Amino acid sequence: MIGVLVSGTGTNLQALIEAKLPVRAVASNKQSAPALARIRDLPTASFELRDFESREQRDAAMGEWLLAQGVEVVVLAGYMHILTPGFLALFPQRVLNVHPSLLPGFPGAHAVADQLAAGVREAGATVHVVDEGVDSGPILLQERVPVLPGDTEDSLHARIKEVEHRLLPLAVEEFLCAR
Ligand code: GAR
Repeated sequence: MIGVLVSGTGTNLQALIEAKLPVRAVASNKQSAPALARIRDLPTASFELRDFESREQRDAAMGEWLLAQGVEVVVLAGYMHILTPGFLALFPQRVLNVHPSLLPGFPGAHAVADQLAAGVREAGATVHVVDEGVDSGPILLQERVPVLPGDTEDSLHARIKEVEHRLLPLAVEEFLCAR
């Protein structure tokens, strides 16, 4: 059973659901995340940092909630906070992330803008297993995405997301099958 963590618009969450993967629960660090509004028939919860004394306590509460929903594998679908080691220990080697670059190149929260600023001809999308680093951890699937003349951050990100919506469900399905 999958738990999905989101912070943003949730198009990757939608792709997981449309692929009929066993999504059991959705959590966010932002109560106002548009991704949560997409969900009608699944348990959702938000864990705002300001409601907890520390990031460790917030992540512990979020992890316990996911476990209580029967979640075994966690997928970060546009989740923009770094997870604490305590959270990762609840789901050892069972947290996956999608990232809009060809990792290990361009980790971090501004990968699309960083790739444009660097003038690369090829951007990309990567799905990987999360470890304690920033967008590090073993790569499961990766695909190149061309950067076109005149691209803006929005146009390039939209092209990358098209790939992510295919790559993420595929990587999750393969990961679940291999378990
Ligand atoms: C995706 O492009 C994902 O790769 C990126 O946030 C976007 C979320 O879009 N994640 C990161 O940058 C993580 N470092 P979505 O909310 O529409 O799925």
